[in-house]
This record gives sequence, structure tokens and C-alpha cells, in this order.
Amino acid sequence: MSKLWSKKLSRRRLLGSAALGTAALPVLHETVPHQSIHNSLAAATGGGNGDHGSADTAHRGAGHRGTMGKVDHAANGFDPTELLRDFDEGRVRNGVREWEIVADDKEIEVAPGVKYAAWTYNGRVPGPTLRAREGERLRINFINASSHPHTMHFHGIHRDVHDGIPGIGAGNIAPGKSTTYEFDASPFGLHHYHCHSTPLADHIAKGLYGMFIVDPKRGRPKADELAMVMNGFDTNFDRENEVYAVNTVAFEYARKPIRVKRGELVRIYLLNILEFDLMNSFHIHANFFDVYPTGTSLEPTELTDTVIQGQGQRAILELRFPFTGKYMFHAHVSEFAELGWMGFFEVV
Ligand code: CU
Ligand code: CU
Repeated sequence: MSKLWSKKLSRRRLLGSAALGTAALPVLHETVPHQSIHNSLAAATGGGNGDHGSADTAHRGAGHRGTMGKVDHAANGFDPTELLRDFDEGRVRNGVREWEIVADDKEIEVAPGVKYAAWTYNGRVPGPTLRAREGERLRINFINASSHPHTMHFHGIHRDVHDGIPGIGAGNIAPGKSTTYEFDASPFGLHHYHCHSTPLADHIAKGLYGMFIVDPKRGRPKADELAMVMNGFDTNFDRENEVYAVNTVAFEYARKPIRVKRGELVRIYLLNILEFDLMNSFHIHANFFDVYPTGTSLEPTELTDTVIQGQGQRAILELRFPFTGKYMFHAHVSEFAELGWMGFFEVV
């Protein structure tokens, strides 16, 4: 208990106090490189729209004036705004839907100025949002260009030899080697894939995960569809996250709100892949959505404004925004929101 407590306390000292701008422990506060987190926070919660002036003012008063940071999406090789609507259907050859997925090592920027030595599928975190239709035969050609062994383990129904875990079938794929996973798209719903090499927590936390959508045979009603992967980054390797986000970059959708149209059906594919924390959640302001847990039924189970997910849990959320304006969404875990997991929808 005391150990756990001190562990938690140390993180709160180092980053919680930094993020909140309380400057409770000035020495630690100055020791940890965190200027960019400050800048992100200032950009997201302060200046721009003036809703939250007080915390920001206190923050600046403590001597943290600085230019608003921006993440270099071009250097990362992916832009979180584009990831939202980027669905990868692969290509169909001889009746089989196929993808080529390459695992690699790559440094990415997860908050302005905060670099993280990630492992990636096809150069991005999260990996590509793979999309198929119920009943199709799927083939994934997996190439490991990373300097560590990896696998691709899919959620879904399939034979053990294609489950992508060490010791069964092709098992761990060594650097420079490749394999092929083959199975049918089943059941329909919102699933995901991730590396299953050990230590598992590290292989997931480093960025080897992505969504896997299986559309029902008769499809779903037309909608503006958004893929949102709730993730985080342990930037100092203490097995706790210092940065939280949707689609990797802290506060990205606060800096650049997600544009949607009033009255149009919006469908959010929501996955929690966060490592090291037991729970994550998604909360939207001033609106309610229908929840389809795991997307495996065409009937929603709840009309709500908050869903809670453990790691690997996912749901489809559907809503229509009745009013134009800016609507906040964030983790209803305040600490996560303060460390990057917060954004806005801009309804036009
Ligand atoms: Cu791995
Ligand atoms: Cu899993």
C-alpha cells in the first residue's frame, strides 16, 4: 500500500503538479523536462478560447510563458485528424482481402517537443484501421522490419495457428522475417489487433496496435465515421503514462477540433488500448450517444454521455449533434484529461 501510494505520488508530483500548474514542488517541477506539456496545456486549455483563464494565468505567472507548441505531423508520418477517417480496406485478390503490414522502430512526437521511441505498424500509431466485411476470407502478410521480435494477434474467431502468439503457429516473428495470418472476418463488430510478444505490456505500450472493423453483411446506415483509439505513453519508462491521448497526439483535437455536421449521423469507433492504467473513458459534453458494445449487435444497449472501458474493450457510439458550436469530449478520469486526453467537436 505504501509503495503504491508513493509510486502514485511521485508521478503526481512530477507531472500532475506540472500539468495543473500548481508548482507545488518547484524543484521537481523544474527538473523534469516538461515545457512542451505546459505549452500543450496552455494551448489547449487557456489562451485560445478563454474558457479556462484562471489556471492558465496562474501557470504563466509561475514563469512558463512560451510559444504554443505544435507537433510535426509530417515528421511523424501521420496526422491524427487524417487518422480519424482513414479506413484501410486492403485489396481483394482472387476472392481474398489482403493487407501488407510492416512493423518497424520509429521515433514519434506525442506532444509538442515530447519524443517517444515507438514501435509501429505501417509507420503509424495506432496502426492502420483494417476494415473488412463479415464472412470474407482475410490474409495479412506481416513483415517484421523492427529490431525486436513481434507478432500480430487479432481479436476475432480463428484457428490457434493464426492467433499470432509466441509458441503457436509461426510464433514470434524475428527481425527481418515475415509470416502470413489467414482467417475469416467473424464476428461482425469492432475488434482490434496488437503485438503479442513478451513482455506484452511493453509491446503494446510502444505502439503496436490498431483497430479491426468487421462490417455486418448488410452494412450500417450511412454516417460520418471516426476511428478513435484511446492510448497513452510512458515517456520515462516507469511503467506509468505521462501523456494520454486519442490517436496518439496529446490535445491534438483541442488544438484542431474535429469538424462534423449538425444533424448528420456520426459514428465513432472507440477502442481503449491504454497500458498501465486499469480504465479509460470517453465523455462528451452537451450531447448523448447510443452505445453498441463491441459493435456485435445492431441494437444499442444504452443512451448515455459516458462510457468506461478496460484495456481491449471497444464500442461503437452513434449520435447526431442537434446544435452547432464547440463541444468538449474527454476522459472522465480528470488526470488523463489534464495530461492530454481532451478535445472538441466543432459542429457546423
Ligand atoms: Cu512486439
Ligand atoms: Cu488483445
